[in-house]
This record gives sequence, structure tokens and C-alpha cells, in this order.
Amino acid sequence: MSWGLQNRLSKIIKPDTGRTVMLAVDHGYFLGPTNSLENPRKTIEPILNDADSLMLTRGVLRTSVDNNTSTPIVLRVSGGTSIVGPSLENEVITTSMEEAVRLNASAIALSVFIGSKHERQTLDSLSELVNQGERYGMPVLAVTAVGKELEKRDARYLALCCRIAAELGAHFVKTYYCDEFEKVVEGCPVPVVIAGGPKLDNELDALKLAYNAVQRGAVGVDMGRNIWQSKYSEAMIKAVRAIVHENASPEQAHELFIALRDDPKKVTLKG
Ligand code: R5P
Repeated sequence: MSWGLQNRLSKIIKPDTGRTVMLAVDHGYFLGPTNSLENPRKTIEPILNDADSLMLTRGVLRTSVDNNTSTPIVLRVSGGTSIVGPSLENEVITTSMEEAVRLNASAIALSVFIGSKHERQTLDSLSELVNQGERYGMPVLAVTAVGKELEKRDARYLALCCRIAAELGAHFVKTYYCDEFEKVVEGCPVPVVIAGGPKLDNELDALKLAYNAVQRGAVGVDMGRNIWQSKYSEAMIKAVRAIVHENASPEQAHELFIALRDDPKKVTLKG
């Protein structure tokens, strides 16, 4: 790994804990103005400083994030399809490597749809971006998204996806949590982060998800809806941080969540 690439990656996966809390706000690229992300700036601003990186498209970056932020940017560079179109999985590369460099991205992200009829095309895109990433010192995050056509999110399938992405050169991989998640991590030679998925019924369940993922080997989360669809997103991201970076249990993190919800000035797990 080149110095530049390693340096960029170390802005995202924190060297002191080897872990990361990535904040995903890229959902609009195929979902439009989804619930709680109608006004991205309003959603992002209060929680930006607690994120180890912000994952989003160039359009939302330019319009909704101040350019003096010190939070590293993970730029989504794939898309071109929508939730109402004929095939969500038919993604292409939408944003060039030059643009990613110009926007001072710390990594780029694209989705791959293994097992769909667009498998080959999306894996081609991954390979091409890895070639460019090596040239420019830009880490590539492969998002093993399960599209509409694929409902199976078991360990066997997700391990296959993560391993293929790593074999093609992805520098880190984002996938879903599942039973026997440790098998997904064991079979993947690069760091794995988990997506949170749709908003769970309560914050404790989302904290348990994050906890189980890191206990079974994930380096952290790239979480969206379970943070910013919470009525108390600021408290929630701090509670997720306690799990990822301080090895808090879900119950301890939930106590912190409640304390911060009731008194936002509280700042630490122990405080
Ligand atoms: C998935 O492809 C999207 O890019 C989201 O970034 C991802 O699903 C993570 O967000 P959430 O935690 O809301 O699932």
C-alpha cells in the first residue's frame, strides 16, 4: 500500500483503536429525499463532528457540508439507478477519480451486486477503480449491497461477496451483519464495516447490532438510518462511538444514550 493510500485510510480507520464510526448519508442517490434526510445539511451538521468519516455523493457534499470540515470524506462514486427504475443493481461509475481528488476525498465507495445480472459490470467497475486508486493513492470501499433481486443476506453469501471484493483489490468492505458474522470477517483479508440497515424499533437494538458486529471482527460501522432517523441522533452517534471505540456493552452505551438524550451536555461514558 502506498504511503498516500495508507495515510488516507488512517484518517478513516483510527490508528489508536483500529476502528471507525463512519456516517452514511448517501441514501438519496437512489432513494431521493428519504425520511430524515430531506434536508441533508440539517441532518448532517449536528452529528458531523462525532463521525470518523462522512459517506456521501458529490452533490450533497458540495451543497450541504461546509468546506472547512475536518471530518474525512468517503465519496460515493457509483449510482445512476433508482428505487423506481427497472433495475437498482444496474449501477455505473458516476464520479471520476479526478473529482474525488479535487474534493479531497479520503476514500471512494461503490456498490457491487454479486449474484445479480449486473455482477460482471459492477465488479468491472470495482477493478477499474482499484487500478485508479492504486495510481492516485485513493482507498476504495466496496459496498456489498444486496439489491431488490437478492434477499439472501446469510453468512455464506456475504462472505462470498466480501471475499470477491477483497480479491479484486478493495481496500475495505462494507456489508451487512448476519448470523455467524465471524465467518464473513475470517474469509475477508481486508477490514470489514457494517451497514446499519433500516431503522430498528429502538436504539438499544441498533447498539446491540453495532456491538455484535465489532465483537465478531468488524472494524466498525458505516451507519446511516439508525443514527439520523433517531429522534436523538446526537446522543445516538455518541453511544455508537462508545461501543466501537471504548468497547462499551450495549447496555452501557444505551445508558449513555439516555443520559445524553436527557442532558446533551454530558460528554463521556463515565461522565
Ligand atoms: C447503501 O448502499 C447505502 O449506500 C448506505 O450507505 C448504507 O445502506 C448504510 O446506511 P444504513 O445504515 O442506513 O443502512
